[in-house]
Amino acid sequence: MSEPDRGAARGEHRPGEPGRLQAPERPTQPGRRLLDNLRRRPPQQVPAFGSDHPGPSPERAVVIDGVSRSFTGPSGTIVALEKTSIVTKSGEFVTFLGPSGCGKSTLFNIVAGLLPASTGSVCIDGRDVTGLTGHVSYMLQRDLLLPWRKVIDNVIVGLEAIGRPKNAARAQARELLDRFGLSQFADVYPQQMSGGMRQRAAFIRTMLFPRDVLLLDEPLGALDAQTRLIMQEWLLQIWTEERKTVLFITHDIDEAVFLSDRVYVMSARPGRIINDVRVDLPRPRTADIRTSEEYFEIRSTLLRDIHGESVKAFNEGVR
Ligand SMILES: Nc1ncnc2c1ncn2[C@@H]1O[C@H](COP(=O)(O)OP(=O)(O)OP(=O)(O)O)[C@@H](O)[C@H]1O
Ligand SMILES: [Mg+2]
Repeated sequence: MSEPDRGAARGEHRPGEPGRLQAPERPTQPGRRLLDNLRRRPPQQVPAFGSDHPGPSPERAVVIDGVSRSFTGPSGTIVALEKTSIVTKSGEFVTFLGPSGCGKSTLFNIVAGLLPASTGSVCIDGRDVTGLTGHVSYMLQRDLLLPWRKVIDNVIVGLEAIGRPKNAARAQARELLDRFGLSQFADVYPQQMSGGMRQRAAFIRTMLFPRDVLLLDEPLGALDAQTRLIMQEWLLQIWTEERKTVLFITHDIDEAVFLSDRVYVMSARPGRIINDVRVDLPRPRTADIRTSEEYFEIRSTLLRDIHGESVKAFNEGVR
């Protein structure tokens, strides 16, 4: 809403508009309705997937409202992400599943405040954080561990960035490394660890940055199939203990079903959400859930949705 419109909503008189009235002391019924409508109206008229409760509340931990992004280069402008709107509840585990190049990482970079959006806004816990950093813990697509730092000093990078003294940060990190089964690797360098351990270290670094919303961009993407299954259970166990709101990206349909409360399926580029699939499987989830009938039903829905989009992305040479 523009400032003049806000003024009008407050009942302020605009000079040069003789027909406009000052707001009466007590709004009339239509006036009150107008104010209520203006308060309720979302800033962008893009229907949001997810919760439909208006206003900030635990039902609306993350509100992505009409977010889009285009990139302009020598060969013109490409739309990486079309206007996207979702509402995520506090403590929900939400996954984005979509073909390569459909704008998943772009969306996360915008939510984390690392990349400006072309349109739209991001609210976390009722606060507009569009373009601001520091409101989420973010594990980027690559583990980005610094090869010259030992694991202990790699995982405290986020704490250092927010000014925690190094010794206090290290003590906190040792506790978490211990809890997550990596204490014996605290003093080695990343290149001395296996892929699974590196991913765990990167995850611990993300967890050490104390925020309620966690963005995980293909955190298990580099792992072999067996390690990946074990890490999925490990991740669920931690999420159950911590109950953070998780936004997760994967290409793996089974991983999406096993972990999530909700899966957003995205189209080939330009990315947009084409399906919002609730995963009502009981929790806690263990490996045997992967053979249940309900699991297969959800899996087939996702497979059907994603297959066509992946073929489109492939044919367009995005991969
Ligand atoms: N900084 C940038 N400049 C120009 N184009 C970009 C930039 N970042 C991303 N893109 C383009 O935007 C599109 C979406 O990229 P993005 O990395 O978000 O895809 P993705 O869905 O995360 O893909 P993947 O599954 O392969 O990680 C791609 O076509 C990509 O080339
Ligand atoms: Mg990506």
